[in-house]
Amino acid sequence: ADPDLARRAAAAKAALGDDVFILGHHYQRDDVIAFADVTGDSFKLAQQAAARPAASAIVFCGVHFMAESADILTADHQRVILPDLAAGCSMADMATAEQVEQAWDDILDAGVATGTVPVSYMNSSAAIKAFTGRHGGTICTSSNAERALDWAFGERGGQRVIFLPDQHLGRNTAIDKLGMSEADCVVYDPRRPGGGLSRAQLRDARMILWRGHCSVHGRFTRECVDEVRERVPGVQVLVHPECRREVVSAADLVGSTEYIIKVVDEAPPGSSFAVGTELNLVQRLANRHPDKTIVFLDRTVCFCSTMNRIDMPHLVWALEALARGETVNRITVDPEVATYSRKALDQMLTLP
Ligand code: 13P
Ligand code: SF4
Repeated sequence: ADPDLARRAAAAKAALGDDVFILGHHYQRDDVIAFADVTGDSFKLAQQAAARPAASAIVFCGVHFMAESADILTADHQRVILPDLAAGCSMADMATAEQVEQAWDDILDAGVATGTVPVSYMNSSAAIKAFTGRHGGTICTSSNAERALDWAFGERGGQRVIFLPDQHLGRNTAIDKLGMSEADCVVYDPRRPGGGLSRAQLRDARMILWRGHCSVHGRFTRECVDEVRERVPGVQVLVHPECRREVVSAADLVGSTEYIIKVVDEAPPGSSFAVGTELNLVQRLANRHPDKTIVFLDRTVCFCSTMNRIDMPHLVWALEALARGETVNRITVDPEVATYSRKALDQMLTLP
């Protein structure tokens, strides 16, 4: 860490006082997350975005879809700033508004639009969230996907769900939490006509999973799990539900970043974990718990490159601009898109 940058960030933050509120996702770098007022998983950060109405600026240390959601959920006088505009998410980019409209047309053609409920992962663009809200669906995160599906099939009365854009979270939740089988799930591939599915397949499916995935979590394999169990006797394999089915089904514990932290923090000294999630978080847990064995599930380096784009030079630049009365890298969502996205986000925030 560069002490000069840390000193400048601290000075700019102090000068701004209550006028700035800094949110940090658990995958952020150590030196950046040290400046966050609140750290959390995607759900907690969405809940907390509007927690400081006195702050006119919200600096989001995370990725683009999180900053968009914060803009949708905060008051009009609040500006949301993403220190580096190139901090996107490859998974969110796997579902474009045009592709999702096409998929809905295919569902209409199959005669099953009534009875199909969109459930979209937080890791999606505001346009996808608006699509979800327009069709009476909900957003979910990795910490409430089960409740979102329970709601879609229960209170909302759905016969099937179109789950966007992470096929793994959708499949893992449907099978492990709702007791469905692989046969209840089909994968809609936006690059193929009709998603590569027949009308009958769309009709008979309970889960229409979008063909999207996280490039970071997609690297963990069943072999990683087998290898670490041999290497570290007594290890508990603790993974994020964005991992593939073969990994999640072989793991001991599965949950969001907030859950992963809680499990490791609360484990007794001497416990061993192999953690399958982004490396900044795993390294932070290992450093915080020298009395526990915490290893990365993969042997290779596996940071989320877009989360890592938020670094100290960008944070200092954004904070110093604010301290001078300038706004850089503001994220704004089109008002009509925001209205429908907000509907879907509010639905998530009121899930039982
Ligand atoms: P959570 O923090 O909600 O577990 O999400 C992980 C993630 O991939 C965010 O990009
Ligand atoms: Fe997107 Fe995966 Fe990075 Fe999360 S870890 S921001 S899902 S690419």
